[in-house]
Amino acid sequence: GRCIGVFTSGGDSQGMNSAVRAVVRMGSYLGCKTYYIREGYQGMVDGGDHIVEATWASSSGIMQLGGTVIGSARCKEFRTLEGRLQAAENLIHRRITNLVVIGGDGSLTGANIFRQEWASLIQQLLDQGRISKEEFKDCEYLNIVGMVGSIDNDFCGTDMTIGTDTALHRIMESVDTISTTASSHQRAFVLEVMGRHCGYLALVGALATEADWVFIPEWPPEDGWEDTLCKKLQAERETGQRLNVILVAEGSIDRHGQPITASQVQNLITSRLKYDTRVTVLGHVQRGGSPSAFDRILGARMGAEAVLALMDATPDTPACVISLDGNQAVRVPLMECVERTQQVQKAMDQKNFEEAVRLRGKS
Ligand code: F6P
Repeated sequence: GRCIGVFTSGGDSQGMNSAVRAVVRMGSYLGCKTYYIREGYQGMVDGGDHIVEATWASSSGIMQLGGTVIGSARCKEFRTLEGRLQAAENLIHRRITNLVVIGGDGSLTGANIFRQEWASLIQQLLDQGRISKEEFKDCEYLNIVGMVGSIDNDFCGTDMTIGTDTALHRIMESVDTISTTASSHQRAFVLEVMGRHCGYLALVGALATEADWVFIPEWPPEDGWEDTLCKKLQAERETGQRLNVILVAEGSIDRHGQPITASQVQNLITSRLKYDTRVTVLGHVQRGGSPSAFDRILGARMGAEAVLALMDATPDTPACVISLDGNQAVRVPLMECVERTQQVQKAMDQKNFEEAVRLRGKS
């Protein structure tokens, strides 16, 4: 059977374990040997007991857990040629020529570069006597398939990234929790929500919690927003509402590119409206805890499809990423998605928000 290595890389997210489990199980079903590569690229470079054979039993009882039980780490060595040679050597000694990478766009790009470089890496390893001729022949091609694990939902080419739904649940629970105490004391709460440069969590979180106002990076408010916001909050209090909830996506900015922070909004409300106002930074609470049913199933479906995609891969097929399109797990060209995701970032940097939102859309 063929050998598959699965690893998680970059920031963790809920549902990654379910994806890992599905890779192991679909692999086993198809007669493949599957290895966990622990601590992401670092484990690939370090080898030894960082690359261990996965079993049906060891992949049990992990789908319920948040985070990634096989670990994730940043790795400087993988950015160097020697690091990648070492990683390739560790894979080849175990005949691993199929990789499943679960991570963000940086991690997926790294995997694609590794694949493109593979022929040269294995030639160097052979020349240096680090692998045998037989190993060289068995490992001529490297196949890779990606899955996107991130709470931010900031990757082009998939409707949902693994972890986003659970993060939304965490946000919803937090806002609901805060609302009871806010209401008791007639307070305003300004909540900072994660998402890096993407406002998805804040926007959808606001819709799901009846928030009064939301700031997102893609939609800097008009100048004079301070007046509009205060009027809105006041109007709501006048109808009998006892509390106010405002969500601020990290990365929010105004029309001049200046950051809008939760404490700035707090100061505004306190000084203008004299409402007792508190700030809560939700932080990594959003990235933790048990994955939602949606993320468990999403990870499971994507993991299974990833293995099927590896089995279909030929040396000429471009690397793919498994994405969610409507209700279907589909394969899309990895580099097209990565490039589009990078174009979004560029458009955001240039304050071309309409273009960024357009690029994030389907076509
Ligand atoms: O990409 C996921 C994310 O949680 C972002 O929402 C956030 O900006 C960032 O990672 C936080 O990074 P770290 O975990 O390194 O503090």
